[in-house]
Parts: sequence; C-alpha cells; structure tokens
Amino acid sequence: MTATATPLALRIKDVGKTYTGHRGTAVEALRGIDLDVAEGEFVCLVGASGCGKSTLLRLVAGFEDITSGQLDARNGPVDGPGPDRGVVFQDYGLFPWLTVAANIAYGPRQRGLPSAEITARTARYLTMVQLDSFAERYPSELSGGMQQRVAIARVLANDPAVLLMDEPFGALDSLTRERLQHSLTEIWQQVRPTVLFVTHSVEEALFLADRVIVMSGGPNHGVPGHIVHEERVTLARPRDVTAPEFNTIKRRLLDAIHAQLPDVALASVAPG
Ligand SMILES: Nc1ncnc2c1ncn2[C@@H]1O[C@H](COP(=O)(O)OP(=O)(O)OP(=O)(O)O)[C@@H](O)[C@H]1O
Ligand SMILES: [Mg+2]
Repeated sequence: MTATATPLALRIKDVGKTYTGHRGTAVEALRGIDLDVAEGEFVCLVGASGCGKSTLLRLVAGFEDITSGQLDARNGPVDGPGPDRGVVFQDYGLFPWLTVAANIAYGPRQRGLPSAEITARTARYLTMVQLDSFAERYPSELSGGMQQRVAIARVLANDPAVLLMDEPFGALDSLTRERLQHSLTEIWQQVRPTVLFVTHSVEEALFLADRVIVMSGGPNHGVPGHIVHEERVTLARPRDVTAPEFNTIKRRLLDAIHAQLPDVALASVAPG
C-alpha cells in the first residue's frame, strides 16, 4: 500500500516473518506485508490479538530479523536497532534510579552531546510533556500517565526519525489515555516524526493517525498475519470523536476487522 509522493521513512516490501516455535516448529507470523510510510506520516496498526502487529513493529525496530522480503528505513536496509528508530512500549521502561530529567537526558548523554545541548533538550521535552515541575522526581513518584509522558520525552530527546509505539497507552485509565492522545497529537504536530503506532482501540487509531492499517490472521487463525484494509484519515486535528464523519470511518474499520474474525477472536477487539 503506497503512501504519497513525499520521501519515504519506511519501505516494507513483501515482508514475511517466521518464528521458530516450541520443538523447532515454524510459526509463520507475517506474510506478504507491503507498507510504505511517508516521512512525517502517522500510521496506526489495528487488528485482533495475534495478527502480528507487535511483530511488524519489532521488525522495523530491528529487534527481530525479517525472514523474507525487503525492509528499508531512510538509511537503508534495517539490520538491527538504530538511533533513527525510537521505541515506546506499554510498560514505560524508565530507569527507576534516575530522576525524570536524568531519564530524558540519558540518550543524548550516551551519544556524547555537549552538556549545554543536553540541558536544552531535556528542558524542551520536559516542557513538551508538561512535566517541568517534576524534573527532579523519580519515576516511582509519578502516576502511570506521567511515567508514560517521560518515556515519550526520553525517546524524543534522541531525535529519532521514526517513533515506534506498541500500545503505549494500553495500561492507562481512559481519562489519562485521552489526555495522552491529545498530548501526542500536539507533540507530533510540533516535531513531526514519522510514527508507527500499534493499538487495540479503533477510536484511538482514528483520533491519531493519517492512515489506519487493519491487519488480520495470525498463526492461531490458520493463516499468517497480513494487511486487509486501510483508511486514510484527513479529518482536521484535534479530532472530534463524536463527529459523524469520524464515526463513519470508525464503522468501516470495525467492519473490516470483524469481517475477518472467527468468533473466538472477537472478544479481544476493543469496541472503542
Ligand atoms: N518469539 C516468538 N516465537 C514464536 N512465536 C511468536 C513469537 N512472537 C510472537 N509469536 C507469535 O506470532 C503471532 C503474532 O504475535 P504478535 O505479538 O506480533 O501479535 P499482536 O498482533 O501484537 O498481538 P496482541 O494484539 O495480542 O499484542 C502470534 O501467534 C504469536 O504467538
Ligand atoms: Mg502486540
């Protein structure tokens, strides 16, 4: 599925991934994935549990190798993790022994940036995630939503071209989650990284993305994970989740997901 004429941040061509399961059995998680992502584009992946969303994200992150096909980031073929691709997971992954500010400064420090630059970046991203007054606190002193904001700031402080997010708001209560969706939209508008974002929530995908990709299948459903549908979303941001246009697209996406699903998998798709 091809993006616009803007330069590509990611080119995923006929990609397949087969894991080695228990007792050496082959588990074909993905087959024939074609997805081009334009620079600065916000793409969400949705689909039932086990269809390979996390696998695709891990391939792009370079945590796993592709089994077949071609996977290129801006610097060429992906052959491992790199600072051009930053990853945010559901469980924050902060260093508990470092303060909020030190967590954010960690990456730039590792890369040996001048200390004035590190200070400036840390301040910039602290402000962006609205945690200035918590700079000297430790992660354990913060709520889940605040910790996730630190995690986002920490990744952004490395200036990644591509931001990979795997259900980053999945563990949060719905109010916090909505707030973070708004914050992420604002941050994305300011910084304009390319984003590949996995979520179980169709509504969240539709609130955030320029394009929503629906995946289906998976080894537990007898066919490898693959892409079945996509929706380009041109609604102005911040999006009104009660608008009729919003809900028309949401309906189409839910239909696309449910059309592919055996009954057993239905329970794992959030209605929102
Ligand atoms: N390391 C692994 N070894 C063997 N099989 C794996 C491995 N990782 C994932 N799988 C299998 O690959 C399939 C896709 O898994 P993946 O985690 O990518 O799905 P997902 O869409 O992210 O699901 P969820 O929505 O539940 O997070 C599943 O059947 C899973 O069991
Ligand atoms: Mg997953």
